[in-house]
Amino acid sequence: MSTAFDHPEYNYKVVRQFAIMTVVWGIVGMAVGVLIAAQLAWPELNFDTPWLSFGRIRPLHTNTVIFAFGGCALFATSYYIVQRTCRVRLFSDTLASFTFWGWQAVIVAAAITLPMGMTSTKEYAELEWPIDILVTLVWVSYCVNFLGTLAIRKESHIYVANWFFAAFMIMIAILYVVNNLAVPVSLTKSYSVYAGTIDAMIQWWWGHNAVGFFLTAGFLGIMYYFVPKQAGRPVYSYRLSIVHFWALISIYVWAGAHHLHYSALPDWAQTSGMVMSLILLAPSWGGMINGMMTLSGAWHKLRTDPILRFLVVSLSFYGMSTFEGPMMAIKTVNALSHNTDWTIGHVHSGALGWVAMVSIGALYHLIPIMFGRKAGEMYSTSLINLHFWLATIGTVLYIVAMWVNGIMQGLMWRAVNEDGTLTYSFVESVEASHGGYVVRVIGGAFFLTGMLIMLFNVYMTTRDAKREANAVAAQA
Ligand code: HEM
Ligand code: HEM
Repeated sequence: MSTAFDHPEYNYKVVRQFAIMTVVWGIVGMAVGVLIAAQLAWPELNFDTPWLSFGRIRPLHTNTVIFAFGGCALFATSYYIVQRTCRVRLFSDTLASFTFWGWQAVIVAAAITLPMGMTSTKEYAELEWPIDILVTLVWVSYCVNFLGTLAIRKESHIYVANWFFAAFMIMIAILYVVNNLAVPVSLTKSYSVYAGTIDAMIQWWWGHNAVGFFLTAGFLGIMYYFVPKQAGRPVYSYRLSIVHFWALISIYVWAGAHHLHYSALPDWAQTSGMVMSLILLAPSWGGMINGMMTLSGAWHKLRTDPILRFLVVSLSFYGMSTFEGPMMAIKTVNALSHNTDWTIGHVHSGALGWVAMVSIGALYHLIPIMFGRKAGEMYSTSLINLHFWLATIGTVLYIVAMWVNGIMQGLMWRAVNEDGTLTYSFVESVEASHGGYVVRVIGGAFFLTGMLIMLFNVYMTTRDAKREANAVAAQA
């Protein structure tokens, strides 16, 4: 069914659908995040109910925020950017529609099966094999549609954002299939084809590159389009973007072993994972610097434009988490940080500070366009500003609480008395972490409140846009 907001040249319908669902799934995933954060502070909130217990809904949180919220943001922006920069409609409207409904079906299937306790047990790859098959079908359709659009482009040049999106979707297709190879024993249970250390190595080859390609390369694609657009400036250095693109994608795939320090993985493999992680700082910062420098001559816009503020702060968090990551990959540092809340702090400075903030900034730019308005022309700019502060303060509260907890836990676990016995029991370190857990709940609640304000702002923008469209139609 066509609407008043359909574009004559481009397929905006699928962009609109994915953009709205990004906000909806963001709220669901973050609400579950706040619940599991509260469970860690007050365990009674597990309600003695299996399907509400931390162990089952933690993967629901990670799957919803990464694949539903992050995934929908990537679908929406990549479909939008590829059409605009190639000056051509999507290769196939049918495939676009299949990717939208197929992806929503995957999310709903995950939301049902994970709380029921059905899991392959692999982190960020928990879904059982029938859902994996659906994911693969949707993903291959996405690749065909995106790469097909590049193939039929009317612009000879391929804009750099599309390079990042193409790398993201091709690598995720390969990694997802290889890591999920399994032998099914029933409709709801399968066993990985890999065993022991090989299984761990394949798992973290996937796990780390889910970070590198899903949570980084794809979002750099978003950054490369929306930062210049919102700042009204060209990308600072096109040459730098090409150099750091090739460096980033060729180095990321070697760094996964930093998740397996001091494990049964051969020592040389651990050390090479560490070295590759340290080298990774350079291409990561190449992207951050390129984004930041794009603002040269436009810094004054930050005073009045909260959308640009979202984008710039996201770049700062990207820079910070990609400095912290290589440091944590150093074996001696990892000996302190591993298994502590420090890792969780690192994750969320990347996830909230970078991934969520850059997506939110892009959506505020994009959603008005999807409803026939000018870029960034939302119902209320003051509400975007309020959202910005809630998100920034929420992220800082979250990650500072986790840094304090993490370093304290690491130090308590390794403290020994003169006679060689442990100074603290594990439970003492859990008790000492309580304050930090409460602060995290507050930080998470701030971030979630910001998302609810965004939903209201989006609803009002679409309502006003529909009224305007109806008035125009009545006049005609
Ligand atoms: C309101 C916002 C959020 C809150 C309150 C929150 C809270 C939490 C909590 C409590 C955990 C479990 C930590 C543990 O096991 O010790 C967690 C894990 C995780 N969250 Fe979030 N989260 C939020 C947003 C996000 C977003 C937006 C993303 C991604 C885009 C994300 C990605 C993850 C990941 C990947 C993990 C697993 C980390 C690991 O295994 O090391 N979270 N989150
Ligand atoms: C140069 C870039 C980066 C490097 C070298 C790096 C390195 C690391 C290291 C060493 C760990 C701890 C592993 C452990 O002790 O178990 C880690 C965990 C993690 N990082 Fe990063 N990081 C980088 C960037 C990022 C970014 C930008 C994000 C998010 C957007 C991110 C998300 C995660 C997640 C989700 C985990 C937890 C995985 C798990 O145990 O479940 N990282 N990273």
